[in-house]
Amino acid sequence: MKKVILAIVALVAFTGTVFAADVIEMKRGVKFNHKAHQENLKDCTKCHASAAGGKIEGFGKDFAHKTCKGCHSTDGKGPTACKECHKQ
Ligand code: HEC
Ligand code: HEC
Ligand code: HEC
Repeated sequence: MKKVILAIVALVAFTGTVFAADVIEMKRGVKFNHKAHQENLKDCTKCHASAAGGKIEGFGKDFAHKTCKGCHSTDGKGPTACKECHKQ
């Protein structure tokens, strides 16, 4: 029984890292690594209205180019060129 529980725990941990929506696929080939940003920035309110997160109202081109690209260029980290975010 103990072995079974360990196996389940291991499986949950494994699938958790591999299959959760860590990377959000966006329009024009943008692959947004949500998890990496959460871990890197720690502050959810950099992008979300509250620390609970969730859908971002009016998310799209304007938000992305202002908030995403804006942070990358102000902080000098992360892509700012079209092709670096848009893979298609
Ligand atoms: C760098 C920007 C950024 C940061 C920081 C960030 N998120 Fe998000 N998050 C997003 C974007 C973009 C979406 C997709 C929004 C949409 O489609 O409306 C999203 C979606 C979500 C969702 C919706 C469900 C899902 O997983 O797709 C939840 C819940 C969420 N974020 C929680 C959080 C929490 C909690 C934190 C802090 C630990 C956080 N986010 C940090 C950008 C961010
Ligand atoms: C508050 C700052 C901040 C915001 C907002 C932000 N990013 Fe980033 N981004 C970073 C940092 C820091 C890195 C890591 C750069 C490094 O490690 O060299 C990064 C890296 C990236 C990368 C390259 C590495 C990877 O994870 O694939 C992409 C693509 C990216 N961001 C897309 C986005 C998108 C799309 C959004 C908006 C939905 C966004 N970022 C919002 C700070 C931010
Ligand atoms: C930091 C990453 C990033 C950079 C740099 C960036 N974009 Fe975007 N762009 C996005 C994201 C994220 C979206 C919104 C995707 C969505 O709504 O799913 C977007 C949306 C768009 C859209 C609208 C797509 C649609 O079908 O609604 C166009 C057009 C676009 N970008 C062109 C460009 C051009 C041209 C450049 C260079 C001048 C550029 N982008 C630079 C991340 C970026």
